[in-house]
Parts: sequence; C-alpha cells; structure tokens
Amino acid sequence: PPPGWTTHADVVVVGSGIAGLTCALRLRQRVERVLLVTKTVLDEGSTRWAQGGIAAALDPADSPAEHLEDTLVAGAGVCDVAAVTALVTEGPARVRELVALGAEFDRTPDGEIALTREGGHHRDRIAHAGGDATGKEISRALIAALDAVRHDPGIEVVEHAMVVDLLQSATGRVCGVTLHVLGEGQRDGVGAATARAVVLATGGLGQVYSSTTNPSVATGDGVAAALRSGAQVRDLEFVQFHPTVLWLGPGAIGQQPLISEAVRGEGAFLVDSAGRRFMTDVHELADLAPRDVVSRAIVERMRADGTQHVYLDARHLGADFLEHRFPSIVERCRSLGFDPATDLLPVAPAQHYASGGVATDLRGRSSLEGLYACGEVACSGVHGANRLASNSLLEGLVFAHRIADDLTDRLADGDLAPVDPVEVDTPRTLLDAARRVDVQQAMTSGAGALRSAESLRRTASELAALAGEATSEPTAPAWESTNLHQVGSLLTELASLRTETRGGHLRSDFPERDPAWRGHLTARLDEDGAL
Ligand code: SIN
Repeated sequence: PPPGWTTHADVVVVGSGIAGLTCALRLRQRVERVLLVTKTVLDEGSTRWAQGGIAAALDPADSPAEHLEDTLVAGAGVCDVAAVTALVTEGPARVRELVALGAEFDRTPDGEIALTREGGHHRDRIAHAGGDATGKEISRALIAALDAVRHDPGIEVVEHAMVVDLLQSATGRVCGVTLHVLGEGQRDGVGAATARAVVLATGGLGQVYSSTTNPSVATGDGVAAALRSGAQVRDLEFVQFHPTVLWLGPGAIGQQPLISEAVRGEGAFLVDSAGRRFMTDVHELADLAPRDVVSRAIVERMRADGTQHVYLDARHLGADFLEHRFPSIVERCRSLGFDPATDLLPVAPAQHYASGGVATDLRGRSSLEGLYACGEVACSGVHGANRLASNSLLEGLVFAHRIADDLTDRLADGDLAPVDPVEVDTPRTLLDAARRVDVQQAMTSGAGALRSAESLRRTASELAALAGEATSEPTAPAWESTNLHQVGSLLTELASLRTETRGGHLRSDFPERDPAWRGHLTARLDEDGAL
C-alpha cells in the first residue's frame, strides 16, 4: 500500500543495537533531526545477547598493533588492513567513552577494567560487564543516554517499525525508507521517512539457519533491503558458527543458548564423546584457537565419531567461581537441566555472526550515495573470513562514530541536499511467514557449517522451489521470511562459487585454503533482480 504518512529527518538510523544507538546519539548532538527506528523494542536486538565482552587494547602491556595482528590472523587473509587499523587504534578511546557514558564494566580489585581472554587473542583484552552480560549492560547504558534526550526535538524514536525498502531518487541516491509500523503510538501503518541519508544498523541474519545464537529479529532485513536497492554486498559466504552452543537435541529451532568463549578463556576445555581433549592437537592456542578453527575441529570430530555434539568441561572451575563469573550462563544451563559445576555440557557449533554484509568503506559509506551501513549488517572489512572474538561490539562502536562524523561534515557542507524519492518498486510477491522454517531447514542442511557443491546445489533448488510459492500479503512476518529467503539464496550462490575452505566457509569438497581465492566476492542485483 502507498505510505499513509510521511515524516522527514536529516538522517534515519535503522536499528537499535550498539551501532544504531551510538550513531543516533552522536548525530543528535550535531545535526538538526535524527529519526531512530527499530523493528521491535530498543533492546531486542543482538547487542543485548552479547556475553563475552568487547575487545580493546586497554592493558598498558597490550597494544593496538597486537590486536591488529590477532584480528588479521583470525580473518584468514581477507581483512582490510586499513579498516582493522581504525578499529584497533580508535577502539580503546571509544570504550572509555562508553564508560564515561555510564556503562559499568567489571573491575579488578585495583579498580581497573578487568580483562579476560577469548579465542584467537594472545592477550587478555576482553572487557566484560555483569560477568557474562556485557551486551545487556552496554545496551542499558546507551538506552539510558537516549532516554535522557527523548524530549529533545532533535531526535525521534519509533519502535515496532520494520523498514521494508529504501527510498531512492531518480539518480539512485538513497533518500529515506518505507516503514511498517506495528505498534501503538504516534505513528501506525505503512509510512515513509525521507532523509538526506540512511544508516542501516539492522544487525545480522542468523535466523536464516535453524539453530543460531541470534534473537528472532535477526532476519537479514538490512542486507535484503540494500540488495533490492542495488547496493553491493560482500563476503556473505563467511558465516561464523560459534563452537560452544548448548546442544538441546536435533529438533531445537531458533535462538539457542550460547556458552561464551570466555568460559574457555577462564580454563574450560572441549572433550569428545570418549572424554578426550582434542583441541591440543589442532592449534597452538588449543581451545582458544580462532573460532573457525575450533568449530571446524568440532565438526570434524563429530563426523568421525558419528555424534551430534561434543562436550565442554568447566567442572574444575567450581560452583563458586562459575556462579560469580558467569551468572547468566549458569542460570540458563541449570534451568535446562545442566549444571556446569557438575555436568559436562553438550555443545555443538551454531550460527553466530555474519562476517559479510553491505560493502562499506572506512567512513561506513555503501556503494549507494546516501546509504551507510554499520555493525553486523555491514562488511567494513574488519572481520575478513572470520571475526575475532569480541570485535563485533567494538566495530559497532568505532564505525558508528566514523559514520556520525562523516555525515556531520557532509551535511554541514551542504552535501546530500534533500531530494524527492521516486515510487518504490517492491517485489510483487512475498514468501508466506510460515515458510520461514523451510528456508531455515534448506539453509541448515546444505549451506550450514559444512558445505559442498552438491549440498549447495540442493539448498539452491529447495530455495528456488519456495520462491515459486510466494503469495503472501505484505505483513511484517512475510517480509521477514522474504528477506531470509533473499539473503539465504545469495549466500548459497556465493558459497558455491568459492571453491576453497577459508574462515567460516568450510567446504568438504575443497578442504584447503586456496591462495587464488584470497579476495572477495561482491554481489549486486540489477533492476530485474538478477545477480
Ligand atoms: C562469546 O561470548 O563467546 C561471544 C563473543 C563474540 O561473539 O565475540
């Protein structure tokens, strides 16, 4: 339906995780009107679920150069060095600003920010809060800062608003969004917000798989909307599977309980079904090897043993330590019948993070004029083929600042002057909401943690068959299924093109890294929706 209402802002920020909130708060200080829209409520996205922490070289014995090195190694040869350099050199200052804003990180007895270790790091550089509830505390602090300025006419927040498509001018410049507003409040129904620029901070796409650590809102909306507008998307085949997700049986679907890598950082280790440690033979960092290495070793061990999970052994850490250091994880495990202090925890890899996304440069600009992307929705080049542990919150923070600063300068210079959008050309047909589970099953069976040409072909044909059934009314759940289908289809296509194993992309038919593939796959849809 045509928009029932229209509003205008200088900048529309879509999403309310660490990236969207940071960007909106910083922009609000410098531009006249910011509109922040979020699909459900402010703290519903992935940030709130982040357990382990945020990585930054805060220890005087550490350095951005060492953080750079660990990030590049984890990224398996395809990080953008300039982007990583920005991340690690600006990171410590950004984290300190977060502290100044009110985020309360755990402290040492001397009052310093306590730092722990996670996979792929050669130093203790992970700051954490509430033991294992870092994202929740960061989200709380940022939302409190937003609440303090809620009555400021310079910023409007619209919750329960799903961005459906990007508005574009006759020349293709992005100049707003269309929105399905589902909640009560001042705005309802289908509307449009025009703007001089749009920042996508919509998070990940984990719901494209049956089993993920991502919340149900992570449906790839930003990548799908950007694709439909003709933006370039990069590295979508590099999906990170977190090694230690509590295994709740073969039928478990949707968001699964994460057992933070920080638990291994504090000394827990993996064992196979016979109780043998296996990571010590795989990598010099053993259980704290980069995440892709650990997940691959688990997948290979499960295949060799014919099992569906391995175990995490944290029993020697003791009940007192575990309850104090990992209160949320212990509580969640116990509520599900597992006590980390006395039981081996069954764990298996599950989808955790999209290392690829909307291609952006060092200022967060996408390939479309007026469109920026920040955080998990973006592919800024900092993660390469496999994100280093706890670099995701940091990326959101650092690049949100960069984007806010770039936009402030451009708007002050008269750049990105308001333009009229042309009519939105949305797809004629949407996938029924009930087909979401079919997309997830197709993706999990053939384009998941382990892929081959044959499995990817099967997934592609299952997804193509689903597309043939598309008939739904344009509801938000139907849009979510459609977005998952669109993003899953592209991911599958790129995964079949990359005939090697690298980072989060594991091919059983091409099990080695191939130097000839040390580069990116960048995709764009043309006006007819062809790749
Ligand atoms: C974890 O706590 O293991 C997740 C941290 C991350 O995703 O970087």
